[in-house]
Amino acid sequence: MTILGIETSCDETAAAIVRRTADGQAEILSNVVLSQTEDHAAYGGVVPEIAARAHVTHLDGIVAEALKQAGISWGDLNGVAATAGPGLIGGVIVGLMTAKSIALVHNLPLIAVNHLEGHALTARLTDNIEFPYLLLLVSGGHTQLLSVNGVGSYQRFGTTIDDALGEAFDKTAKLLGLGFPGGPAVEQAAINGDPKRFDLPRPMVGRAGCDFSFSGLKTALRRQAEALAPLKESDIADLCASFQAAICDIIVDRTKAAMEAFAASHDTSSQKTMVAAGGVAANTALRSTLQNLCETQDFRLIMPPLALCTDNAAMIAWAGAERLALGLTDNLDISPRARWPLDPEAKAASGAGVKV
Ligand code: KG4
Ligand code: ZN
Repeated sequence: MTILGIETSCDETAAAIVRRTADGQAEILSNVVLSQTEDHAAYGGVVPEIAARAHVTHLDGIVAEALKQAGISWGDLNGVAATAGPGLIGGVIVGLMTAKSIALVHNLPLIAVNHLEGHALTARLTDNIEFPYLLLLVSGGHTQLLSVNGVGSYQRFGTTIDDALGEAFDKTAKLLGLGFPGGPAVEQAAINGDPKRFDLPRPMVGRAGCDFSFSGLKTALRRQAEALAPLKESDIADLCASFQAAICDIIVDRTKAAMEAFAASHDTSSQKTMVAAGGVAANTALRSTLQNLCETQDFRLIMPPLALCTDNAAMIAWAGAERLALGLTDNLDISPRARWPLDPEAKAASGAGVKV
């Protein structure tokens, strides 16, 4: 089956065509992503209204480009999938309404995809892995540890109770005058820094469960920066390196707890697999930390290529294909959702940055 996917839940306007064979093999025919980073850079973060307007302006052209690059026409499609949440509601409305129109005009089944399910199933698109597996999703909007048990079947072990990890990187960068997006800038600045110079807090480490919190770390870093001001280049490097070291310790502690929870809820006789996804998974220090952790905990680590880890529409098309193969389609009256947890049983988390 050949599926058009549409992604508009944050600041990427994206469309992709993905083909899935009956035995579950995947082929990405096109994957077009228009990043709005420059539109938001001056504000140090994504401005929802600007994002929604940019999606309206660009989405039709991006969809046409995805079809063109794939070398197919409307008649070759078997379904249209779009992110229906969670995310910035203005953008989600644009993508979902566009998908509904296409479904109506071309008489195609509609698949309303949970953006988090898109991230969660990407490793099956890239590496054809079997369920279940443990997922660490770390991006600008999400920080979650989940057991991916099947399509539509998730068990959340932990989430953030305040900022998402990417947000913590972005806010740190803003505070230190390093620009947006902050993650790559903090990583770059940390290269020549001393990770031991500042003893920053590691919130939640050692606590029961697998939840995350980053706001205390952010505040501690701000206090240090204020105490040192004006900052020398070496101060910025040491602050960034110390921040990254704290992040790595937090991720190790929380992920280890999730690995134990995963092992306790599944048959562990076969190889255990962990997948890391989201923009922050691009961080080199975090990648090597996760590699070491997986080796010591006997997990195989899968990290999809970066272009499929960060927001894209191929993952939405693929999730749509997986759902369509199981007969899971949606009616045209389905509503977009700003919040939409993957695991309805998970207790609600609250906080400014919590999107599920
Ligand atoms: O997955 P993504 O592209 O979009 C969202 O769904 O949010 O993630 C973007 C986030 C941003 O917060 C960005 O600062 C962060 O990922 N990021 C990084 C790195 N590259 C991107 N954080 C740390 N280190 C990096 N190298
Ligand atoms: Zn995302």
